[in-house]
Amino acid sequence: MFLRTFLGLAATAATGLAASLQQVNSFGANPTNIQMYIYVPDKVAANPAIIVALHPCGGSGQQWFSGTRLPSYADSNGFILVYPSTPHMSNCWDVQNPDSLTHGKGGDAGGIISMVNYTLEKYSGDRDRVYVMGFSSGGMMTNVMAGSYPDVFEAGAAYSGVAFGCFQGAPSATPMSPNQTCAQGMQKTPQEWGNLVRNAYPGYTGRRPRMQITHGLADNLVLPRCGEEALKQWSNVLGVEYTRDVAGVPSSGWTQKLYGGDGVKVQGFVGQGVGHAPSVNEEQLLKWFGILGGSNNGGGGNNGGGNNGGGTGGGTVALWGQCGGNGYNGPTGCAQGTCKVLNEWYSQCTP
Ligand SMILES: *[C@@H]1O[C@H](CO)[C@@H](O)[C@H](O)[C@H]1NC(C)=O
Ligand SMILES: *[C@@H]1O[C@H](CO)[C@@H](O)[C@H](O)[C@H]1NC(C)=O
Repeated sequence: MFLRTFLGLAATAATGLAASLQQVNSFGANPTNIQMYIYVPDKVAANPAIIVALHPCGGSGQQWFSGTRLPSYADSNGFILVYPSTPHMSNCWDVQNPDSLTHGKGGDAGGIISMVNYTLEKYSGDRDRVYVMGFSSGGMMTNVMAGSYPDVFEAGAAYSGVAFGCFQGAPSATPMSPNQTCAQGMQKTPQEWGNLVRNAYPGYTGRRPRMQITHGLADNLVLPRCGEEALKQWSNVLGVEYTRDVAGVPSSGWTQKLYGGDGVKVQGFVGQGVGHAPSVNEEQLLKWFGILGGSNNGGGGNNGGGNNGGGTGGGTVALWGQCGGNGYNGPTGCAQGTCKVLNEWYSQCTP
């Protein structure tokens, strides 16, 4: 095994062969005229897994290709990466478009499904191992893809996004648009959020994608509440209740939120002090997708440390600072004022 790997590396180094990101011009129905880029590693697996990776607003497929270390994991693990790219609406995905919010209707979502179909056919991809991930607008679109095309995706992972249907009824989808209702943390009941997903594909009774939701607790562009609303949605759709938090997973400052016991179907990650940032932990992501081995839940050795970094003992919080909430591990005593619960994710020292 070592020898084979070593020889493989030596051959690559000797010939200078290395795959690169390629544009595909003709990949099937493309109702909104978006673009397709693909990364097929030199040593692509037989029946490879496929990951669709969705860029943020203002981004592109090429840019997001270098936005994470997923391509180097594709080199070592043989999966294929598909990078859709939208030139429209400040390069934001059309998560408000009724067509994208409906199975089989079209929109950007329809074009992305054509890219998946093309890749499955051309590379004999594994239909049971198609995944979707994305950051910001790409995180929003990840939820849209999972909601409108549950039959296509085995799992999704959304970073700093919003729930499926959150922008429904808004004229555009950018969090910077005049209509900030969604990005400012629009709330619905779990049942209402779940109905939006179920109504995207009425009568569908098959498997639904497992969902992982990651959000920074200091995100002031797409509020952390949006991540919580997405968790409420998938918890309802997949029928798993919130179970517990595990501090320090995948790393210090982060808390994993497990649903349905061990988080196999739904799990979240919230980052203390983390703003609107990609925050992609590739190993954690690839474990979630089942591409890398190892547990994707927090039940392992990570839980022993209790608090991380900031610690809970002794510190006091200044006026208007955070003093509590789900996923919060910092000090809870207020130097001034009292700790007031604003919502289950955020308590604040208030005069
Ligand atoms: C993708 O493939 C599926 C299964 O073959 C098919 O039902 C669907 O119409 C295709 N969708 C697009 C947009 O090509
Ligand atoms: C703003 O967007 C929300 C969905 O995010 C929608 O429910 C609402 O109707 C929109 N308001 C206007 C004035 O467009």
